[in-house]
Amino acid sequence: MTTVLSPTAFFGGPPRVHAWAPGRVNLLGEHTDYNDGFMLPIATPQRTDVMAAPSNDGRFHLYSATLDAHVEFGADEAAPPGFARYMEGCIRLLQARGVAVPPLRMYVRSNLALGTGLSSSAALEVATLRALRTLLAAELDDVALAQMAQQAEIRYAGVNCGIMDQMASSLADSEHMLFLDARTLAHQVLPLPPGAEVIVIDSGVPRKLADSKYNERRAECEAAARLLGVPALRDVTDLEQVDRLPAPLKERARHVVSENLRVLEARGGVEAARFGELMNQSHASLRDDYQVSIVALDELTAALRADPEVFGARLTGAGFGGACVALCKSGSARAAGERAVRRMKEGGGAAANATLLIPAHG
Ligand code: GLA
Repeated sequence: MTTVLSPTAFFGGPPRVHAWAPGRVNLLGEHTDYNDGFMLPIATPQRTDVMAAPSNDGRFHLYSATLDAHVEFGADEAAPPGFARYMEGCIRLLQARGVAVPPLRMYVRSNLALGTGLSSSAALEVATLRALRTLLAAELDDVALAQMAQQAEIRYAGVNCGIMDQMASSLADSEHMLFLDARTLAHQVLPLPPGAEVIVIDSGVPRKLADSKYNERRAECEAAARLLGVPALRDVTDLEQVDRLPAPLKERARHVVSENLRVLEARGGVEAARFGELMNQSHASLRDDYQVSIVALDELTAALRADPEVFGARLTGAGFGGACVALCKSGSARAAGERAVRRMKEGGGAAANATLLIPAHG
């Protein structure tokens, strides 16, 4: 049996800096960020911690307590794929900006479930950059930090993601929604609808096909924008305009355009019941027009919707597995989430392994 190293054992004393960053749950506005559109994420109470101190042997040493994995590499070497690659990406991008980064020891631990669509990778990138920013007194505001984190993901982890996850991890908290405009990066902290709180349930089905289908959807959206003669689907505000597109571009564009309209309505301030309806419409649109849902997420969100304490429910994140989010009456979140999980287990269907992620146990 291996023993997970403590920070003190790893650093031989206290670390020089300790930073952290949350994951994100998107309440509304899915697959809109790479269309220059709008979204309303919230941060998770779960987070990733990164501690750092200079290394004294001229090499980088990165340790993940979550994976109990130790990776080391020289100043001119690449990190192997995995958690260290994301961190190395952050280091290289800072260096490219002219910040001198000496060889470091870095320690990571997280209570964010991996692979559930809560952006554990964005949390790792943002926490790493926050630790580096403090340690090296680098000038980097929170938006520039999010953009650098996104570049680390695209260039070093090879995932062609939008900006939502990193912006949410860098700027959101777990009590408020963050309205984001992916084109201008304008953002605004907003209260949750009055009398409502958030539940997040993992479907128990790991995301499959997420990368290939994600890239396919991006390409379809770009093709749709080209045919409509606009820079991005964000520039289409009239749903009738998409009717002249051929299938499946029409359906893909209809999702994006209608989803942006839903976010803008919710941003204006709506009652919890209306917010819930918008979430339900978003799920239907992601399932039927965007085709990124799976049976487990359809069953889980249907069970949640049938609960009298729940205002609305939808898949959250890229889809193809992972988690769903629901808005429910304040004070009832845990009970409603546990009821839905129990129903899934008893039904023995596609979401029989569902687990409640937020509110977290303990
Ligand atoms: C993933 C990506 C985000 C966003 C969502 C879908 O989480 O990382 O940039 O595109 O999918 O809304």
